[in-house]
Amino acid sequence: MARTRVVIDTDPGVDDAVAILLALASPELDVLAITTVSGNVGLEKTTLNARRIVQLAQRRDVIVAAGCAGAIAGPTHYSGDVHGADGLGDLSWDEPDVPLHGEDAVELLRELVEAGPLTIVAIGPLTNLATLLGRYPDVARLVERVVIMGGASFEGNVTPAAEFNIWADPEAAQRVFAAEWPITAMPLDLTHQATLNDDDLQFLRSLGTEVGRRTADMLEPYARFHDEWYGNRDVIMHDAMAVYELIDPSAISKQGVQVNVETGGEYSRGATWFDRRRDHAESRIRVGLDVDNSKFVALLRERLATFR
Ligand code: BDR
Ligand code: CA
Repeated sequence: MARTRVVIDTDPGVDDAVAILLALASPELDVLAITTVSGNVGLEKTTLNARRIVQLAQRRDVIVAAGCAGAIAGPTHYSGDVHGADGLGDLSWDEPDVPLHGEDAVELLRELVEAGPLTIVAIGPLTNLATLLGRYPDVARLVERVVIMGGASFEGNVTPAAEFNIWADPEAAQRVFAAEWPITAMPLDLTHQATLNDDDLQFLRSLGTEVGRRTADMLEPYARFHDEWYGNRDVIMHDAMAVYELIDPSAISKQGVQVNVETGGEYSRGATWFDRRRDHAESRIRVGLDVDNSKFVALLRERLATFR
């Protein structure tokens, strides 16, 4: 089986952590590096969290490199207490011995793009990718595909109009959607279909492994946040959808779209205008529509159970 060469660009983040673990447990993917960006929490924390997750997975072969510490144009925003003050639910962790790569994430991305076919899984604000395009506009033509968790067709989560990853750096998102690379976007209206419930958390604990226990512990405060905000404890697996799409592309229905990101707007900054009025089959941008959650959860359980 040909494995897809992947870099995960991320701001861990509890759901980022699950997405990273899913990717690291999936033989379809060859995860070369994890590049971090400011997002749910500041860059120092997202980078530490990425090293914690790589350590948890016992995958020191995966490079961790730090990228941009703030948005390319507007103010830098974090996601408040959604993921806890440290970004991973405020558990206690030993200092990871996974090293931090000496080079900046944007330079590393360029090298990996030039070294062979590369898919970039972008599950945080799009600042690193916009910076890559700004420094090296030609790379867009070399990238196999960019799979993004971001945007919303119908309703945002940070504001009524905007989803967090786009709202945190709308100018970057606009630049990324306008570039020449093929994009698959996983918006909120898709990701809200992908949830884990208390039985799934119990299943993770019953594995009796460090990965199972820690993942359930990270998800617990996230479940409390969902309970307060949405009225039930089911946790939404936004970022794992971008990884799932790579593992099993047929599991998520999609349509071709044209996209614009609102960078002005008194009430709508960061909104994504996906034109879904018809299937833009000619477009290089596709948007995820629907997923079968029971199939996704079965795969996630199976893959997370492979960690020893
Ligand atoms: C996105 O925002 C972050 O809080 C999550 O990690 C996810 O990437 C969902 O809007
Ligand atoms: Ca994220």
